[in-house]
Formats: sequence, C-alpha cells, structure tokens
Amino acid sequence: MAKYVELAEQIKDQIRNDVWEIGCKLPSLRKQTELSGFSLMTVMNAYQLLESQGWVVSHSRSGYVVAPKVPDSIAPAANHQNQLQISESIDINDFVFDILQASRKKSVTNFGFAYPDATLYPQNRVNKSLMKTAREMPTSHALDNLPPGNETLRKIIAKRYASQGITVNPDEIVITAGALEALNLSLQSVTQAGDWVVVESPAFYGALQALERLNLRALFVKTHPKDGIDLNALEQALSTHPVKACWLMTNFQNPLGFTLSDEKKKRLIELLSAHSVYLVEDDVYNELYYGNTKPLPAKAFDTKGMTLHCSSFSKSLVAGFRIGWVAAGKNALKIQKLQLMSTLSTSAPVQLTLANYLSTRHYENHLKQLRRKLEQRKFQTWQLLRSTMPKEVDVHYSTGGYFIWVALPTHINATELYRLALKEDISIAPGEMFATNQQFNHCFRLNASLEISEKVERALKRLSVLMTKLI
Ligand SMILES: Cc1ncc(COP(=O)(O)O)c(C=O)c1O
Repeated sequence: MAKYVELAEQIKDQIRNDVWEIGCKLPSLRKQTELSGFSLMTVMNAYQLLESQGWVVSHSRSGYVVAPKVPDSIAPAANHQNQLQISESIDINDFVFDILQASRKKSVTNFGFAYPDATLYPQNRVNKSLMKTAREMPTSHALDNLPPGNETLRKIIAKRYASQGITVNPDEIVITAGALEALNLSLQSVTQAGDWVVVESPAFYGALQALERLNLRALFVKTHPKDGIDLNALEQALSTHPVKACWLMTNFQNPLGFTLSDEKKKRLIELLSAHSVYLVEDDVYNELYYGNTKPLPAKAFDTKGMTLHCSSFSKSLVAGFRIGWVAAGKNALKIQKLQLMSTLSTSAPVQLTLANYLSTRHYENHLKQLRRKLEQRKFQTWQLLRSTMPKEVDVHYSTGGYFIWVALPTHINATELYRLALKEDISIAPGEMFATNQQFNHCFRLNASLEISEKVERALKRLSVLMTKLI
C-alpha cells in the first residue's frame, strides 16, 4: 500500500472513532508531518485523497476539516424499489410559483433564493460596460445580434471551453435568455410530447417545470448527495423505457451540491450514447468551484455530439441580464428555429454589454473573489447551523456553489417549516419543490451566499428554533 494511502486509512479510522469529529480541523500539514513521521508530500497526498473521497473538506482559512457523513435521512434508501420512479405527467409549476412569489418581499431574509447574494456581483464594472455600449451601439445592433447571438460573445464562450480542452465551434453556440431558455429549447429540440425523459431525484425544479410544459413523461433516477446519479438505476431506466433524453447536472447539483467524478461523467456518456439518448446538461454553477480547477462538464467526454451543454452568466456575473447559452452541436440550427418561434432573440444591448465586459480582464478577477467569498460564507453558515440546530437535523455540505441541503427527521414536513419561517420573514426552499413524490418533503435547500450579518445570524438561529419546535 502506498504511504499516503496508509496514512489516509489511519485518519479514516480516527474519524470513525471520533478522534476527529465532524466539523473539526485536522492537524495542519506540517503538524501532521511531525505527528505521523511521513513526509510533507505524503501528508498532502493523503489529505487530498481524503478530500476526493468526501472524508474531509478543504477550506482556505481552516485547512482540512472533517466533512459531515451523508446521514440516512439525506441519503436515498438503498433498496432497489426506490431506484427508479415513473411519472406519466408532472404538475409542480403552481406550487413552485407560489413559493417563489411569497418570498419576494424585500424584508425577507431569503435563504430560499436560487441566485447568489446580489452584492457579490460586480455591478459597477458591468454598469460601465453598459454605459459604454449605450454610447457606441451601432444602428445595426438588432440585426447583428439575432440568433445564434452576438458573435464576439459566442467566440468568448468558445474560448472558455477551449481553456478546458473542449473544442466548441462558436457557430454551435446559441445565446439564450438565461440557462433556463437554453435548457428548455434543448429539451424541446430532442423530444416530442409523451416521450420519456430521465431526470434526477431530487432535481432542480426548472427541469420538472420543463417536463410539465412539454407534456413529457419522467423517469426519476435515484441520486445520491455525494456520488450523484445512480448509474445502475439509469441503466435500468434506459433498458426498460424508450428514453429520448436525460436532463441532469454534473457539477454542484441543485439542490444536493455534489459534483460527479470525471470517471462517472465518462461512464454516464458511454451509457447514454450506447442507448442513443441525448444529454441535456445543466451546468450553471461550474464557475463556482472552491479548489484550483474548474470541473469538466460531461460534454468533455462526448465524442458523438449527443450533449447539449447549457450554462449562463446568471450565477457568476449578473442575474438580471438573463444571458445564457447552449453549446448545441448539430442541434444548434434546430434550437435557433425554436427560438424564432418563442422569444426571437435575447436583448441586443445586453449581449453587447456582456461581450464588452468579458473582453476585459475583470471577469477572472471577479470570479476569484466570488469563489473565495462564497466558500467563506458557506462554511460560516454551515458552522452556525451545526452549532444551533437540533441534533436530529442533518446538514449536507458540499465544496462548491452556495447551497446547503438540510434534512429534518423524516416525519417532519419542511413545507410546514417554510410556512412558519415565512411568517417571520425568513424563506427557505422546501424539498417538495425538487420532486413530484413525497420523498424529500422533510428536506430543504438553504442559500448560504448571504453575508453573516446580525440579521442573517438571527434568522438562522430563528430557523433552528422553529425546527426544534416542529421536532
Ligand atoms: C440548476 C439551475 N439551472 C438553471 C437555472 C436557470 O439559470 P438562469 O437564471 O441562467 O436561467 C437555475 C437558476 O436557479 C438553476 O439553479
């Protein structure tokens, strides 16, 4: 056994035996070198191995911290019956609409919101680009920016793919109104009403709404908070139903937070292409990683052009501009035609503004700051929750993005918690938004991008009190 594996095994044993408890900081690299007698390199490799296996999470300020276990209340049941669930029709939009509307009041501390805290966006710089665009906009701007969208912007996006070793021709990219339009048009381009589509369970509610809108039938595949979609269950779905498309997230999944390993992304692509099934890949959080490298999309492993990769600037730069895209490969033309029948195109001045902003060096600097702040805030929120929540509540932490998934004991309804909290101007996203069955009704998603001000701290503590009351 390699030395670093040996050391990692020793530390796992210590964690199992509560020598190092959840949330507790492991000895620094240097200290561990002294304690264990192994070299610094061995210790570093051991810590990295533990991190890749989900035993610890690294945090720039606190070093390596013991990660929470994936508790039974969060992890899906191991029995096979739950692996696959079938839904002939979906009816979730009204519920999601009501929840989102109710949380819109300015006074609400919005832990239910799907976007990062707006103060994290570089508003001044973006405004400067907006003003410059307004001054210099050519009279032909409406025509120049029709589908597939602004050429400079598409070239910038293609270069960002190239920086990860992924070749995407700018002509395969279609600019859309946020990722949501990209995802919806992508799904529409590869399905017809009544077709079967594979979705994760739990899934981003936008996927469920799209299936409802397009009258599609769903196969919900068991998805684990740490490892993501269950590939055996996926295989079962593919071999028992004539599936046309699979819509899922590979990086920092909403609501659970996991990122699929590269190996799993590769296997996923192999499975889907063996059954000639399109992948609609939702990758809106890929810039919000905490480590040193941006995770690859599954599209990076696709040699057959069956992946429609959708993303946007909504989570990383500016939410209100509503600019996203799909790298649609051979489906790009079909998507443009569908766009012609719906929104025609996204706003020309906004596309030009983004093209202007992204041509500067500001975006990379902003992203670095954004990632650092999100990591800090999420970690602080997690610590605060852990220290105030009743012990029956499980908090699932993931290293990326800004969501925390919380599970109450299974007999407690998180929608009830949502209603109680809203009366006190606190909002959460109850688990019922992310599935069409009752399976996640005891869970909720919490937005951890807010700065821990007095108001936010009070709201988190209040949530804990309400949970205690319900339990
Ligand atoms: C997982 C996921 N996909 C897509 C979207 C939509 O992104 P956009 O605002 O760019 O349309 C969201 C927004 O909440 C999301 O959370």
